Amino acid sequence: MAKTRVGFVGCGGIAEAHLGPLSQRDDVDLVGFTDVNEERLSVVQDKYGAEGSETFTNASDMFGALALDAAYFCLPPFAHGDELLAIERGIPFFVEKPVNLYVEQAEEIAAAARENDVMSAIGYMNRYRAGIQRVRGMLRSDPGIMAYGGWIGGTPRGSGGSGIGAWWPVKSRSGGQFHEQVTHTVDVVLWLFGVPVEIHAYAAMGLNRDTAPQYDIEDAMVVNMRFANNAVANLWSSCSSNGGGGGVTLNVYANDVTALFTGWEHSVRILTDGGEAVEEIPGEGDIFAIEDDHFIRAVSTGDRSLIQGTYDDGVTAIRVTLAADESFKTGRPVSLA
Ligand SMILES: NC(=O)c1ccc[n+]([C@@H]2O[C@H](COP(=O)([O-])OP(=O)(O)OC[C@H]3O[C@@H](n4cnc5c(N)ncnc54)[C@H](O)[C@@H]3O)[C@@H](O)[C@H]2O)c1
Repeated sequence: MAKTRVGFVGCGGIAEAHLGPLSQRDDVDLVGFTDVNEERLSVVQDKYGAEGSETFTNASDMFGALALDAAYFCLPPFAHGDELLAIERGIPFFVEKPVNLYVEQAEEIAAAARENDVMSAIGYMNRYRAGIQRVRGMLRSDPGIMAYGGWIGGTPRGSGGSGIGAWWPVKSRSGGQFHEQVTHTVDVVLWLFGVPVEIHAYAAMGLNRDTAPQYDIEDAMVVNMRFANNAVANLWSSCSSNGGGGGVTLNVYANDVTALFTGWEHSVRILTDGGEAVEEIPGEGDIFAIEDDHFIRAVSTGDRSLIQGTYDDGVTAIRVTLAADESFKTGRPVSLA
């Protein structure tokens, strides 16, 4: 069996969430690793590298040296752009969310992928969950009317970077919690409801008394969305809730169906008949392995229908989260119609 030769650009925390399951597969060889941090390179090569695998400190060298069948980009939001190296060689590529901090660069990458007809996948792993798929199916005949949800947690403590310094609490590097983290909830809502036509946001700033070094992101945001059929959503972020009691939530209400998602794993209780009927679908703990399985099989068979979210879907999500930024800064609703 011909193995799929995979290269990674960015070898930090989320890269390991993919490298673990990929390294267990007998149809994949992890042949190339790129990171600006050489310590990370030796860690991941030792743990996951195929025989003869190579490491690089810039992506251009890796794409020049290796014949790859697929590439993963697991970079902080500010550090993208090298996807073009894969696209110009026709190499299918997977990008972790959010695809970018800059819409213009993301649109350039998306246009290149379309022009060159290169397969892409985006790391919105919740799209592969049985519970999300089930609710999406139910909403086809009973469209969602209202959703609310988000991510609430305490001050980010880790450096969020393996040698590149903190990036998560730094607005110019991560884009803030709504852009970087609540993007998962935004993507689910977009997948269930479609793309909003209008967005309005408020942000709380300067209230978190217990910040980490370099912290300059919003302490909290609330974001309202209106959809073309006048359905509405209210999504939020907070990273100043150091008292505890936060978590991940998404509640979706349609005429006949209520879906209550809880936790990172998006376990769901689906209510119908006024709450008389309850269906429970637990979230999958091994969702990265499931997501990777779809991408690798799509690459090896050429069957793009296996992929539930493409690079274009990633661009749509950042247009929404960055519109929320624009709205709270200007104090005005932003039209996406
Ligand atoms: N799908 C998920 O649930 C999930 C979970 C965590 C992180 N993520 C996303 O994955 C991305 C990376 O997050 P992370 O937690 O792995 O961060 P990280 O800081 O742990 O790792 C990022 C790695 O990229 C490297 N890097 C930075 N600039 C580079 C460049 N120009 N070329 C090559 N390497 C470079 C860093 O040295 C670091 O090793 C972020 O966009 C984040 O939002 C997704």
